[in-house]
Amino acid sequence: MLIDPFGRSVTYLRISITDRCNLRCAYCLPASGIKWIPREDLLTADEIIYVVETAASLGVSKIRLTGGEPLIRPDLLEIVARISATPGIQDLSLTTNAILLEKMAQPLADAGLKRVNISLDTLDADKFQRVTRFGDFDCAWKGILAAEAAGLTPIKLNTVVVGGFNFNEISDIASLTKSYPWHIRFIELMPVGNQQEWGDNLPTGAERYVSVQKMHAQLEHLDLAPAEAPTGNGPARTFRIPGAIGTVGFISPLGEHFCENCNRLRLTADGYLRACLLMDKEISVREGLSNGANLKALLQQSVDQKPKGHELASSNYPEARRMAQIGG
Ligand code: 5AD
Ligand code: SF4
Repeated sequence: MLIDPFGRSVTYLRISITDRCNLRCAYCLPASGIKWIPREDLLTADEIIYVVETAASLGVSKIRLTGGEPLIRPDLLEIVARISATPGIQDLSLTTNAILLEKMAQPLADAGLKRVNISLDTLDADKFQRVTRFGDFDCAWKGILAAEAAGLTPIKLNTVVVGGFNFNEISDIASLTKSYPWHIRFIELMPVGNQQEWGDNLPTGAERYVSVQKMHAQLEHLDLAPAEAPTGNGPARTFRIPGAIGTVGFISPLGEHFCENCNRLRLTADGYLRACLLMDKEISVREGLSNGANLKALLQQSVDQKPKGHELASSNYPEARRMAQIGG
């Protein structure tokens, strides 16, 4: 078992399989001038599987594939099939922007993927294009419907709430749960490599951050009542609009209760174990890729680096990587 210095057991590994993305969400990536990880530095499918098998032997039972955008990786179906066949892995999910999901949902389900989390920040096609810089809303929407048809459920939709952009839409987005069995999660904007200006027609500076408390106030008329989370205890606080078939959750990385139950470790696309999303400490797995004992030790070393909590409140922001290089 992987137990951290604060007694939390680590059973969940999030693997970024590429830092590249087919969108440029303003809070995640700059419009241009991005330095991608050279392709030869990406972990291969064999290397990823080796890490998964080793982590599973230490009690990891839950894997999430992230990016960048995981659907642009050519060997994704092979990776999914091999992870889902790994003894000990009980839950395999993926985070995607859904742009390529319409075609890929069924093959992914066939390969053993259990479910997807989908980024959806707005229901307005023009705003979707603005925040993603060139994304097509209809394409993403069709992808969400395809995921549901393929049984990649329960479907969670991630909405990063941005003041001056989509804060005025959160009631409409929450109300989707009256008609669809989806689980919306409103996420506070995290200051990870995105402190600069975002460009035309997008809000600037401090205006962008909206607290979960403000979101609750904005949704007061919906009479949200506490509800069971769709897949057990993650970082979201979960609620339901009376009579709705989906749920509405809130994720407050800057606020309370985010760190205390953290059971995760992250693996970057270039092979670094990262103990905390919000801190830059990392350990390379390369030396463990040909030796299981080494790799087990490296996994435990990374778990030993898990901090009790992040230090965003004291303005200790991670700066070494952008979100697309960590995978959220
Ligand atoms: N703050 C909060 N959430 C973010 N994501 C990406 N960047 C940020 C950020 N700065 C989330 C998006 C996406 C997931 C991959 O990470 O919601 O769904
Ligand atoms: Fe791509 Fe996701 Fe980042 Fe948007 S948030 S640019 S979809 S990795």
